[in-house]
Amino acid sequence: EKCKLIQVESPEKGAEKFYQLIKEELEHNRLHVLGLATGSTMIPVYKKLTESELDFSDVTTFNLDEYVGLPASSPNSYAYFMNEHLFNKKTFKETNIPDGTAENLEEECKRYEQALQDAKLDIQLLGVGENGHIAFNEPGTPKDSVTHVAQLTDSTLGVNSQYFENDEKIPNTALTMGIASIMSAKKLVLLAFGEKKRPAIEKVLEGKIDPDWTITYLLEHGNVTIITDLEF
Ligand code: GLP
Repeated sequence: EKCKLIQVESPEKGAEKFYQLIKEELEHNRLHVLGLATGSTMIPVYKKLTESELDFSDVTTFNLDEYVGLPASSPNSYAYFMNEHLFNKKTFKETNIPDGTAENLEEECKRYEQALQDAKLDIQLLGVGENGHIAFNEPGTPKDSVTHVAQLTDSTLGVNSQYFENDEKIPNTALTMGIASIMSAKKLVLLAFGEKKRPAIEKVLEGKIDPDWTITYLLEHGNVTIITDLEF
């Protein structure tokens, strides 16, 4: 089975599924390192987790990506998003997000990738961009990519800038886990809600790797669950 598809009625039901999955992994003592994602898709997911009884005090987290130049104090940074939606409400053993304000970005990417490989991801949570990107692995990103500085495409800048507050300009670069970094996780869970995500999920269902739709690399993983409210 290439990718397991779970069809749900709504994003809230999808969040419920993810919660159940995480609960089971915690109960079986199989969840020590959890990869996290940002974006509007994750808001109901983190809401469900924070309202739950789940204990994450023994779980270390790694986020997928962060904008270059945005400190955790910027409401537009992914660090801020994570604090607001999850980390301020639940206690974790340790949380990691690439530092987009690092003086030497290449060094920061190397450091982050090493920490990731040392820790070993049990589960990586993923969303997907409208152009099929996972994390900030834009179309054409190679399969062997590790954590790197990514140039964002006009399409992604257009979609993501809608959420930018306080007239802050969206950075056109970001630090992101690469495809190989993501694929190193034992289990991948991707959430996709709404018609705008249909083309990306359709590409996966077609079953062929297409580097212009980086989501299709997931076909090579072997333990992928896609939770979606789309019907196919
Ligand atoms: C950003 C993130 C991705 C995320 C995507 C979708 O580009 N880097 O990791 O999957 O947004 O965001 P949304 O959930 O808001 O549709």
